Amino acid sequence: MKDAQPRTVYRKDYHAPEYLVDSTRLHFELQPKSTLVKSCLQIRRNPDAGGGLPPLVLDGIELELLSVSIDGALVPASRYRELPEGLSIDVEKPEFLLEIHNRISPEDNTSLEGLYLSNGMYCTQCEAEGFRKITYYPDRPDVMSKFTTTIVAPRQYPVLLANGNEIERSHTEDGRQVVTWEDPFAKPAYLFALVAGELQHIEDSFTTASGREVKLQIFTEAKNIGKCDHAMRSLKKAMRWDEEVYGREYDLDIFMVVAVDHFNMGAMENKGLNIFNSACVLASPKTATDRSFQTIESIVGHEYFHNWSGNRVTCRDWFQLSLKEGFTVFRDAEFSADMNSRAVKRIEDVSMLRTAQFAEDAGPMAHPVRPDSYMEISNFYTLTIYEKGAEVVRMIHTLLGAEGFRKGSDLYFERHDGQAVTCEDFVRAMEDANGVDLTRFRRWYSQAGTPVLDVSDEFDARSGTYSLTIRQSCPPTPGQEEKLPLHIPVAMGLLDSDGNDLPLDDDDNTQKVLEVTEAEQTFRFEGLKEKPLPSLLRGFSAPVKVHYDYSTEQLLFLMRSDSDEFNRWDAGQRLAFAALEQLQQDFRAGRTLELQPELVDAYRSVLANRELDQALVAEMLALPSAQTLAEHAQKIDAEAIVAARDFARRELALALKDELRDCYRRLQSDKPYDPNAADIAERSLKNTCLAYLSVTEEPELLTLAEEQFSEAANMTDSAAALAALTNHAPDDIATSALENFYRRWEGDTQVVELWFGVQSGSARRGTLDAVRELMQHPAFELKNPNKVRSVIGVFANRNFAQFHRTDGSGFAFLAEQVVALDKLNPQVAARLVTPLTRWKKYTEELGEKMRAALQSVMDSGKISRDLYEVVSKSLA
Ligand code: TRP
Ligand code: ZN
Repeated sequence: MKDAQPRTVYRKDYHAPEYLVDSTRLHFELQPKSTLVKSCLQIRRNPDAGGGLPPLVLDGIELELLSVSIDGALVPASRYRELPEGLSIDVEKPEFLLEIHNRISPEDNTSLEGLYLSNGMYCTQCEAEGFRKITYYPDRPDVMSKFTTTIVAPRQYPVLLANGNEIERSHTEDGRQVVTWEDPFAKPAYLFALVAGELQHIEDSFTTASGREVKLQIFTEAKNIGKCDHAMRSLKKAMRWDEEVYGREYDLDIFMVVAVDHFNMGAMENKGLNIFNSACVLASPKTATDRSFQTIESIVGHEYFHNWSGNRVTCRDWFQLSLKEGFTVFRDAEFSADMNSRAVKRIEDVSMLRTAQFAEDAGPMAHPVRPDSYMEISNFYTLTIYEKGAEVVRMIHTLLGAEGFRKGSDLYFERHDGQAVTCEDFVRAMEDANGVDLTRFRRWYSQAGTPVLDVSDEFDARSGTYSLTIRQSCPPTPGQEEKLPLHIPVAMGLLDSDGNDLPLDDDDNTQKVLEVTEAEQTFRFEGLKEKPLPSLLRGFSAPVKVHYDYSTEQLLFLMRSDSDEFNRWDAGQRLAFAALEQLQQDFRAGRTLELQPELVDAYRSVLANRELDQALVAEMLALPSAQTLAEHAQKIDAEAIVAARDFARRELALALKDELRDCYRRLQSDKPYDPNAADIAERSLKNTCLAYLSVTEEPELLTLAEEQFSEAANMTDSAAALAALTNHAPDDIATSALENFYRRWEGDTQVVELWFGVQSGSARRGTLDAVRELMQHPAFELKNPNKVRSVIGVFANRNFAQFHRTDGSGFAFLAEQVVALDKLNPQVAARLVTPLTRWKKYTEELGEKMRAALQSVMDSGKISRDLYEVVSKSLA
């Protein structure tokens, strides 16, 4: 385990590397407890770093050093020093060949960074700083080198993979296999990968726009070979899309994907050899839900798109992480939008941003898209870097238009191909290609916090002038008390009293992007006959909160008439939000709860709307989540939130029972399963209806869930029915459904994870005791992050009611698990603790229990640097 020494790294301290590595030759002799690594580095003094020959300082963690040689001669121990996290070697000449031998133990590596074993398969994870757990190296992204990798392994590991092309294959005298791979593209060490195992694969090919044939392979354990087809289809779609939309072709002759069960995140874009969390690549119609089909498509796209936005052009330092992640998330979101329903994709992404990213931006770990400092970089793979970073790129797209943006990305890729660059370089390429000035826009990279727009309007009937006044502000965040005005694109339209879009300029455009750049600005629209209704921030054109005093009638009107589908949904959310706010107040005051009749009517007409995309209808019927309500609250009163939301959901279900049942019946189908957008939409609406119907807990309606559970021919329907029963059926029925389900699927890792999640997320059974019991289940494994996430993570993040029990037992439980996990996997432990870090936002009694749980983590003894950073910043 890394020690918890609180060191902080600052962006302002960046210096060019003292030495460069022109080539890297690696040689691995794989053994579970004692893998021998030999590394030959062609090293050269960096001419841009200054004079003299300072010592060569290499990073290295938990390595057993065997020997150091320079130009073939052993270096005596007096000429190098082992550091707590590295090696310092005296240097006598500006160019030399350095050879280092060291040992590591993949079997004991539970941190899942560096080289480790997963179900007997060797694999690596080097981003961000995992390569230093393999061998001594200048482990920083601005040191780019050409890698050649030789793997020597016993016969039980027939498949031996690394980056690039296979160039040699032979045997040792004792019968071990020897395979050498060469990657012709210089890359930083974080993109290095190695895999060895008894794996099967499927194969296909892709012909690039310029006519080159690329071999595509997906590797997995034999039992999962039937679950790779969807990922392969997604990969080919992504390759075509990047050619069509960005003009980017793939550059090697082979592209490989490997599925691994033990993985800290979703997937990793290693050059030519992507490694995926099994859950993010394996799917079959019988075993995977629609959601997982879509997630797989977007993650396969994401990692593939990194080949240009991340690999060909990489980051200078880790403060620039959003350069590749924000841009690549924007690219994968547009890919998904083009492949599926654009509006629904946008709604899903914005919902997540508004709950989780806004909460991060308002919490103790708030940081800009380009952070100024960190203690542990693994903690900065955040929603702010990824999702807000993607919104920042999207705003540039909105400001420049699709064509201008493409000119900018072309220039960026051309200018910086093969380089390690900064967010500043990205913005400058956009500016230069378009002749625009994005000086003020750059503040999005340096300022943390969620900006607020206060909008007011005025209509002068005599002159027919409508004025919109927009004031922007941004709350203080840790280390940033004062905020400056940002450059904010506000896409908008104006509706007349018939619900039609009004022309906004001489060309009769009905949508306009207002460029807000000052603290306060007024925009005027002339020649209007009546006061229009503004539709603001269409498509969520900026990651901000908009306050405008809409009346209930106006929101109902926008829900029906706005031509922007996103804003139709958003109007519904605002309406539901106001109703739930009222219910919370009534609950606190001890008044009888009563649901606004307008909300019921609005939901009724949404449900009846057959013209709208049915997936959008499903989204419009969903009440804001408890987490969303919490994010909006001044002080989070968990009990009131749960009471208000449960009440509203039940009232809606009872009032709309007949319509819900009709809709449910109408959407039942025995078409063979296919995860296309239209079918997914129908299943989504059908299962939304089923969920509402089961909330009534009426036996006759629960029968529908029971029938669906026993007859379902796909996992989407099966899982939806299981969730309905687990949450709302009488104990015996719920228990037997869970048992049946497990017996049928116990051999399937991904389905078992889903089964865990249904239980720990259940308001009824997901009590703490049930979750503790699940941790004793033979399929649970604390060393496997997917299992940790599906049991503990789901409980803490998605079981709002049970996690926030007033006795604080949910918090104490989480603290206890975080401490245990930290000894095995600090990265995942530091992420898991997040729900406890927001204690200051809670009502006093509950907040104090949360703080105490957090303090108990701090007091538990030696904790990792990862966990220390999050906990200490949250207690401060
Ligand atoms: N670069 C990966 C991505 O596509 C992120 C990632 C995968 C990662 N595994 C990791 C980051 C482990 C840190 C640690 O977004
Ligand atoms: Zn990424």
